[in-house]
Amino acid sequence: MDFKEYSDRTVHVPIMTDKMIELLNPVIGGVYVDCTLGGGGHTEAIYKKIKTKGTIIGIDSDAAAINRTELRFKRIFCNDNSNSLIHSEGSIRLVHANYIYTPDALTMLGIDKVDGILLDLGLSSDQLNDQERGFSFNAYGKLDLRFDTTEGEPAYALINRLKEEDIAYLIFKYSEEKYARKIAHEIITKRKTKDIETAIELAEIVRNCVPKKRIINFKSYNSRSIIIDPATKTFQALRIAVNKELDSLETILNIAPKILKQNGKIIVISFHALEDKIVKNTFRNNPNWKIITKKPIISSQTELQQNPRSRSAKLRCASFVGDNK
Ligand SMILES: C[S@@+](CC[C@H](N)C(=O)[O-])C[C@H]1O[C@@H](n2cnc3c(N)ncnc32)[C@H](O)[C@@H]1O
Repeated sequence: MDFKEYSDRTVHVPIMTDKMIELLNPVIGGVYVDCTLGGGGHTEAIYKKIKTKGTIIGIDSDAAAINRTELRFKRIFCNDNSNSLIHSEGSIRLVHANYIYTPDALTMLGIDKVDGILLDLGLSSDQLNDQERGFSFNAYGKLDLRFDTTEGEPAYALINRLKEEDIAYLIFKYSEEKYARKIAHEIITKRKTKDIETAIELAEIVRNCVPKKRIINFKSYNSRSIIIDPATKTFQALRIAVNKELDSLETILNIAPKILKQNGKIIVISFHALEDKIVKNTFRNNPNWKIITKKPIISSQTELQQNPRSRSAKLRCASFVGDNK
């Protein structure tokens, strides 16, 4: 693969990094897996704690994220003599895969169990910025919305294929968008003349169905209200659907006990009520999990002001206290 075609810059600002490090408490020589590498901010913070004696495995289903972050890490962590992120006593290992295949990735790397797992769900600002992928409402590119562009069905194919009631159901199910029926009807009407292909086209359709300014109150957001684009919920619902995000989350949470050492920790940062519910219930319903965060942790006022994307983030942490030998 030619890494040179990718820039190594990331615009993604990692969320609640200090809290994540405090709870995960990475130890020198430990082995950790970041299932959602993205721009590598969290992985970098863990690596700095475990030093060269430990190993951090960074997984992402987005090949562009893996390639960009590999270049960035080589620039900051490799010395002149070596261009490798693998050191004799420890390393950063990057793997392009869906995180549901974490056990296979560990086997491939000769690793049995890890001291900690991190999941920082959803999409990164790098993906949002990529005009070709359709994550942003003003993207001229195709409405793709897949993290892994080599797997599954892109969103434009899905909305041009499904029946009206199925589109409405999907949008409502994953975003509780109350105008879901109207949006689905408008999609079908537009489809009669021409298939919907770009993010801009879909955003236009949704904006015509939803009140122009949708104000959301976030109590934690400095007691202020913020305005989100009317298309936000519909894009989020389609993204969750094409990437099977909730299924993947349930799968990794069920697999996690098999790959964690005893007392190993898992941290999940989620951005959607349905995700948080899955995490909360999994930790509560399995006695092999000891819940460390009784209530989800949210971003500080300072972080909320510096990084508005952190407004809906919830962090939960548990440790594995079962026996998986
Ligand atoms: C919020 S970003 C992570 C940002 C990262 N923590 C950082 O510090 O830059 C989420 C990342 O997870 C990836 N992702 C989402 N679902 C995934 C899955 N099922 N398997 C692997 N990667 C996934 C996305 O492609 C995206 O790059």
